[in-house]
Amino acid sequence: MSNNSVNKNSVTTPCLVTGCAGFVGSWLCSALLRQGFPVLGVDNLQSGCLENMSDFIDNSNFTFYNRSVLEPALLQQLHATRPDIGCVFHLAALVSVPYSIDHADETMRLNHDAALAWHATAWRLGIKAFVFAGSAAEYGDAARLPLQEGDADRAGRLSPYSESKYLTSKAIEASGYGVSLRFFNIYGPRQDPASPYSGVMAKFIDAALSGNPCTIFGDGTQTRDFIYVEDAVEAYLLAAGLTRPGGKPLAGIYNVGTQTPVSIGELARLINEAAQTPCRSVHRERRAGDIRHSLADITRIANATGFAPQTDLVRGIARTMAWYRHACPSDNAVGVPGCMTP
Ligand code: UD1
Repeated sequence: MSNNSVNKNSVTTPCLVTGCAGFVGSWLCSALLRQGFPVLGVDNLQSGCLENMSDFIDNSNFTFYNRSVLEPALLQQLHATRPDIGCVFHLAALVSVPYSIDHADETMRLNHDAALAWHATAWRLGIKAFVFAGSAAEYGDAARLPLQEGDADRAGRLSPYSESKYLTSKAIEASGYGVSLRFFNIYGPRQDPASPYSGVMAKFIDAALSGNPCTIFGDGTQTRDFIYVEDAVEAYLLAAGLTRPGGKPLAGIYNVGTQTPVSIGELARLINEAAQTPCRSVHRERRAGDIRHSLADITRIANATGFAPQTDLVRGIARTMAWYRHACPSDNAVGVPGCMTP
């Protein structure tokens, strides 16, 4: 999937991925292993699941640790077993805006306190690259579109989720070590539709394939910038300096999206079209904490690394839907083994 050749100096660099059993984390592990990097994966399987790792769990270059990122000395312990770890990708997180509203302390503990503890330890241990999964939610009610990285500093945040990600990104930026990638809405195969907190793409595809109407919160005119998971993974590799010849890890904050807005109503229509089902939607009250519009300006990461997303929305929906059909071909309902999706 990578457009860029692997940086030969870094090909044996062991990489540590937290949240390795989640939707994005498992894709990242697959890509790293495919390119020859040894991978240490950490996940407590609370929201991730073993099925997500079935492609690589037996790979001799992969070591799985069923542990929690809340364990204070975990990174030191893993580093003692592999002192040559060159990169930490920190994805483990609570990912749902509505969940965070009901669980603010838990969200802050995991998404902020634990993340910054990992960041500080990685720095102390001399690990070359630290990449944090930030979020477009950090832009809160920022009015100007497309969103540039500095716009978050002038915005009010709408949920504990967005506040936790924002504070972590800013602390990483201020330290001068490590990078926060502000991902817009990542979608693709393995995103779990089963939880009430699942992302909209998985939920709509599940509904369309099951012959149910899509539930739209609000009037459906809110917009998002959807990025296919393989493009998001490419951004991770580039940010860590792993796939750029002579590449150095980035520092600071970078948006990762496609610069293409789509409304939630339009998304429902595209998904029903791809499923060849009539577009039926029901509307429910707008969700608390939801940002209204979200659209990335990706100039900064494009200039720094050459990043350019490869998969447009129609193709991404088709690939995602094909996977869901394959995951449960018998009755067309998705029913993928449930796990939420950090
Ligand atoms: C998502 C991610 C978050 C990430 C952020 C980046 C999930 C669960 N959350 O948040 O981790 O940091 O993108 O922008 O993947 N909606 C419906 N019907 C549904 C579900 C959602 O209309 O059944 C609407 C929501 O009200 C919202 C939009 O779709 O307006 C997107 O919601 P969602 O997929 O939950 O993602 P975000 O809240 O944007």
